[in-house]
Amino acid sequence: MSNTELAKGVYWVGAVDWDVRDFHGYSTYRGTTYNAFLIVDEKVTLVDTVKRSHMGDLVRHIKAIIDPAKIDYLIVNHVEMDHSGSLPEIIELIKPEKVFCSPMGHKAMLDHFHQDDWPFEIVKSGSEISLGQRTLQFLETRMLHWPDSMFTYLKEDGILFSSDAFGQHYATSERFDDQVPMSEVMEECGKYYANILYLFSPLVQKLLKSVADMNLDIKMIAPDHGIIWRSNMSMILEAYQKWSSGVCTEKALVIYDTMWHSTETMAKSVAAGLEEAGVSCELINLRYNHRSDVMTKVLNAKAIVLGSPTLNNGVLPRMAGFLMYMRGLKPLNKLGAAFGSYGWSGESVKYLNTAMEEMNITLVEEGFRHKYVPDAASLEECMAIGIRVGKAVKEAMAD
Ligand code: FEO
Repeated sequence: MSNTELAKGVYWVGAVDWDVRDFHGYSTYRGTTYNAFLIVDEKVTLVDTVKRSHMGDLVRHIKAIIDPAKIDYLIVNHVEMDHSGSLPEIIELIKPEKVFCSPMGHKAMLDHFHQDDWPFEIVKSGSEISLGQRTLQFLETRMLHWPDSMFTYLKEDGILFSSDAFGQHYATSERFDDQVPMSEVMEECGKYYANILYLFSPLVQKLLKSVADMNLDIKMIAPDHGIIWRSNMSMILEAYQKWSSGVCTEKALVIYDTMWHSTETMAKSVAAGLEEAGVSCELINLRYNHRSDVMTKVLNAKAIVLGSPTLNNGVLPRMAGFLMYMRGLKPLNKLGAAFGSYGWSGESVKYLNTAMEEMNITLVEEGFRHKYVPDAASLEECMAIGIRVGKAVKEAMAD
C-alpha cells in the first residue's frame, strides 16, 4: 500500500503548503497541509478540496489515480476557503453528479460562490449514502468550528473524515501519525485547539460524547490539516477531552509588556515569587512572543498574571491586542492577577482586572501598581503576589 493510501481504494489527494507562516493571524511555523481524499468505488467520491493556490496539486494527485471527470460525488465538509477556495474550478473540471453538504454548508456555499445551479444534495446528521461497495454516513458538527462543519464517516473502512477537528498545521511529506515525531504533532494540535477551537469547548465535549454514543468502529481519523491518525488515536481523543474540559497543569504564566523596563522588573519578581511557591512559571514578553504561541501556553496553564504599564489611561497596545484575542477564545478555568507601573493616572491594573473578569478568570487579588521605577519594597510586593498566586494554584490543583 502506498504512503497515500488510507485503505484499499481510499487515497490522500491533498496538498502540502510548506510556506504558509500566517493563517489569518495565527503563526504557522511548520506550514500546513490541505487534506482531500478520493474514494474509488462505483460512485467515485472526492472528500473535500483545497485552498485555491494549491488546486494544481489536488488535480495532479487525482490524475495519478483516476481521470477527474470520473468523479461522481463531491463531499464538502467545510466551506472555509482553505478547503473550498478551489471549488468553482474543481466543480467545473469534474462536473459532479452531486455535491453533498450540510444545510448550513449549502447556505455558506451560496454566500461564497453564488452558484445555485450546482447539484447540491443536503445531508443531515445520520444521513447515509451508498457509493456501491461502501457507505458514507454524515454527522453535522455545527460551530466546530463554522456553522456548516460536518464529519463524514466511511463505514466499511472505519475512516472518520473530521474536517478541521483533530488537525494540526504541520507540513510533512509523511501522511500518518506513526511516521512523524508525536511531540511535534501534539504541540501543533494544542496550538490548533487553543487558537481555533478553545471557545467551542462545551460543543467539543458534546461532540466527543455523541461520537462515543454512536459506537463507531473508528480505525482512522483523517482531518483536513496535518497527519492522519491511525496508531495514536487515543492520544488525540484524550487531549481533546482534557482541553475541552479545562484541565490545567500546575503552571503560571507571567504575560507582560513593558515601556521603560519597570513592568519587566516587576514581572521578574512576580516570577520569582511563583518559583518560591514551588509553581512552574514562564515569563512571556509580548514583544517577543506571537499571540498564537501565547494562547497555546494559556491552554494548559492554571494561572495568568498580566502586567502592563499605563499608556494613555489604558494598557500598551500589544497587551490590548492580546486581551482582545484571548477574550474571543474564552479561556477555561483560570486564576489571574495583574500588576504594572505607571506615571500619573495609573489605570492599567484596573483595565487588566476588568478584562480578566470579563473572561471569567478568577482574580486571586486586586493587583498591584507602582509609580515609575519600582523600589525594593515594591519588588518585594511583586514577589508576594507571585507567592500568593502560586499558593492559589497549588490549592486549586489539589481540589
Ligand atoms: Fe481549515 Fe476552518 O478551515
